Order: sequence, then C-alpha cells, then structure tokens
Amino acid sequence: MKAKISINTDNVISQIDNRLYGSFIEHLGRAVYGGIYQPDHETADDMGFRRDVLDLVKKLNVPIVRYPGGNFVSGYNWEDGTGDKALRPKKLDLAWATVETNQVGIDEFQEWAKRAGTDIMMAVNLGTRGADEARQLVEYCNLDTDTYYAEKRRRNGFEKPFGIRLWCLGNEMDGPWQICHLTAEEYARKACEAAKVMKWTDPDIELVACGSSSKNMPTFGEWERTVLRECYDHIDYLSLHNYYGNPDNDTPAYLAQSMNMDAFIKTVAGICDEVKAEKHSDKTINLSFDEWNIWFHSNEQDKQVPRWSYAPRLLEDIYNFEDALVVGTLLITLINNSDRVKIACLAQLVNVIAPIMTEDEGCWLQTIFYPFMHASLFGRGKALRPETVCGTYDTASLKDVPYITAAAVENEDGGITVFAVNRSLDEDSELEIGMPDGYKLYQHTVLDCDDMKAVNSLACPENIKPAEMPVDRDTVLGRHTWNVLRFRKV
Ligand code: AHR
Repeated sequence: MKAKISINTDNVISQIDNRLYGSFIEHLGRAVYGGIYQPDHETADDMGFRRDVLDLVKKLNVPIVRYPGGNFVSGYNWEDGTGDKALRPKKLDLAWATVETNQVGIDEFQEWAKRAGTDIMMAVNLGTRGADEARQLVEYCNLDTDTYYAEKRRRNGFEKPFGIRLWCLGNEMDGPWQICHLTAEEYARKACEAAKVMKWTDPDIELVACGSSSKNMPTFGEWERTVLRECYDHIDYLSLHNYYGNPDNDTPAYLAQSMNMDAFIKTVAGICDEVKAEKHSDKTINLSFDEWNIWFHSNEQDKQVPRWSYAPRLLEDIYNFEDALVVGTLLITLINNSDRVKIACLAQLVNVIAPIMTEDEGCWLQTIFYPFMHASLFGRGKALRPETVCGTYDTASLKDVPYITAAAVENEDGGITVFAVNRSLDEDSELEIGMPDGYKLYQHTVLDCDDMKAVNSLACPENIKPAEMPVDRDTVLGRHTWNVLRFRKV
C-alpha cells in the first residue's frame, strides 16, 4: 500500500495551546491514595507524595491536571480537605461508593502540582452545592485579601494564594448518574450564577461550562444550546467528554473511532458558533475536551468491589497495544482540531484508566503512556494541516476510513513533527512525505507489536515500548503502528 502526506508550513490550523496535553486526577480508586500519595511508601517525600510517580508524571510534561473530579466533585465539600489532617472528616463518597478520608485536599494537591511542574484545572461542586461554596473556594485559592477564606488559607499554612486560573463549573451535570443531576435549564441557571460570582471574586479566572458527557447522550445538542444561550457572556469554554472502547472485539472499527471524536468536536464547535451568531457576539467559545480516553476493560471487575471500601482498585483498565494505537489516533484528532480544542485532559493519570500504574513494589507504564508522551513532548507549536492521500476502508457504521491518519506540528525549534497511525491490520504503507524544501527526517520512532492484545505489567514493564527506525532508507509505516517522524531544517 502506498500513501502520501504533504505538509505546507503556510497551511496552519492553529497555534496549539499547551493545555491540549492535560490530564486528570480524581478522588477515585487508587488515583490519589496509593497512587500519587502514599506516606508509608519507601519513595514518599516529606508530604507523603510518591517520588517515583512524580518522576513519571514529569516525563509526560503534563501542563495541567484537572482535580478533584469527576463524579466525585458533585458530592464534595472542599473544606473537608483543608487544615489539620487529624481533624479532617471521613466521608461517604456516593459517586463511587467508597470512603474518602480527606487526607489529601487542595492544600496538598496544589503542592503536588508544583512538584509535578503542572497547573491545576479546578472543578467546583455544582451538584450538592452551588455558587456560594464555589466563590468561597475561589477566594481560598486565589485571593490575597484579609477576608475570611483567604485568612483561612493563611491559617492553614499557605501565605501566598495558589493562583488557580482555570475552573470547571461542575462535572457531567447532564448525566443521571451524577449526584444531583440537573436538566439543561436548571444547570444553565446554576452555572451562570456560579460563574458570575466566581469571576466577581477573581476576574482573572477562566471558566469551563459542562457540555455533554458523550456524543450519545439523549440531550446532546439541546444541552449545549441551552447552556450557551444562558451562560455565553460568563464562560470561556464548553466541555466535551467521551470514552472509547472495543467491547465487541472489532479492531478495524475500534481503530476508526477517532472519526467519531472528530465529528463530535466539529458538531459542538458548530453549536457554539450558532449561538454566537444568534447573540451577534464577537466572542468565540472554545472547547475543553476535559475527559477522553479508553474505558471498558475494567467494567465487569468493578461490579465486584465491596461498597464503602477505602481506595479500592477501581477503573484499573489494563491497556493493550491496540488501545495505544487508538490513543494515538485520538491525539492526532485533537491536534487537527486545535483551532477549537484549547484544553484536553487524558482521563486519568495514575492507576484509574491511566498511563501510570503503581504497586508497592514500584511503578510501571501502560502502552498508552507512549503516544501521549510523544504528543506532549513533540506536539507543541503550530498545528499544520497535512494533506493525506491513502486507501480507505468501511466499518459497519463508518464509510471511507483512511488507513493513514496523521497530524503535523511545526515545533518551536523550527523542526516539524509528523504523527501517523497506519490503521491497516495487514499492510505496511510505503510513505512519500511531501515536505517544504530544506527539511530532513532525523528520527522515526515507532510503537509496534505483532500481538494487538499484548500488554505491559509490573512483571513485564517493557513488553511494549517505542523503538527507533533507520532514517537513511525509504519511510515505511508498518501495519498497525504509531509513528513519530521528526524533521529538522538543514
Ligand atoms: O473518569 C471517570 C469518570 O468518568 C468521571 O468521574 C466522570 O466525570 C466520567 O463519567
């Protein structure tokens, strides 16, 4: 099979917002307790954070981490996670039917984020709570005044404000599973009033309103319209969430699912612009795809977890090689839509549907770690629109799926990085790359494995890992591979 990718540095999609490579830590399962925080672990630092986990998070160069949920946030009282740890209440978490000890809260997490070299995307509870507690949290985190919540932070040992710029107005409020789920009209009013008082407290913050929890929600479309019509002037971004999976073991269809992500993004951007036109507004609402990943492997085992456990193994999907390819295609889709998607969060970061896994004996990397790391490290700069010519295939629900999907980024150092997945299960692709004059391929990194279902584990952590290909011969995108092609100007 032959394919051609043409790159033109004048054909710019957008400057990529670095926050496209964000992630997510929720109080869920072993993400926090036994994940980022384990005070009795041999690698624990002075605050109980695992240094081995911090080192791996730093390798991903994650610019922003969403916190503390997720479904968890809709029943969370943020004050429970502040102040003297000995006095913090143990509470039922109704979202995941577990016990929350509150030994980690914003006091600790903002310190973890500093140590990990990342910013926080903070979510407020618009389920059991509302505007008042949200504005109090903004004051606690961001204000330098001599008022109650800012003073409370100082009393808790933090003289300087945390300076959290990006905030989510609740989580998945369109979902009946959400604690205190709301109709679109109810959420729109609640979010609008919360947004106003949060921005009145700190005008420098940016706000993300909840969009739909997936493209398949029955309210998808109307939900977005209703929320935008009410909140337009008070918000900056609208969220999208979507998880993908291969429960029917149809790999060609699974590898094509990034086309659904692409359609989802374009539809939501269209709705934002429709409401912009209705309002005769000059303001553009951009998108925050603040939960995306693969989530299906752990669904059955999660049903066995006893209620009110402490930090149980929940949502611990073990990712195989084909999952890594799908994550690669989803990253390519996000880059190719970076004119509208400014923020995206791989959900999640540690243990819970995560690239990084922990055990007492050590950490190990899942297959999906690698495409995410490559995109985060080499996908910064200007997204260019590649013209790809290749064969196509059909699935039960999608026609003309290109075998090759690619994204191109002009990096800040003047080089160009091309990310490409060959979706064919049996044919390599000889690749002709039409580059602007003066660029030379100097690195071709590949993730490849004969067995689509192969996984990494604590015992075999390097079963699947990237390899370097020779660059002094014709470029081939092997069948079912993730490829990172790096060019420099000569
Ligand atoms: O990421 C896991 C869960 O998925 C989140 O808590 C929720 O927002 C979504 O349904």
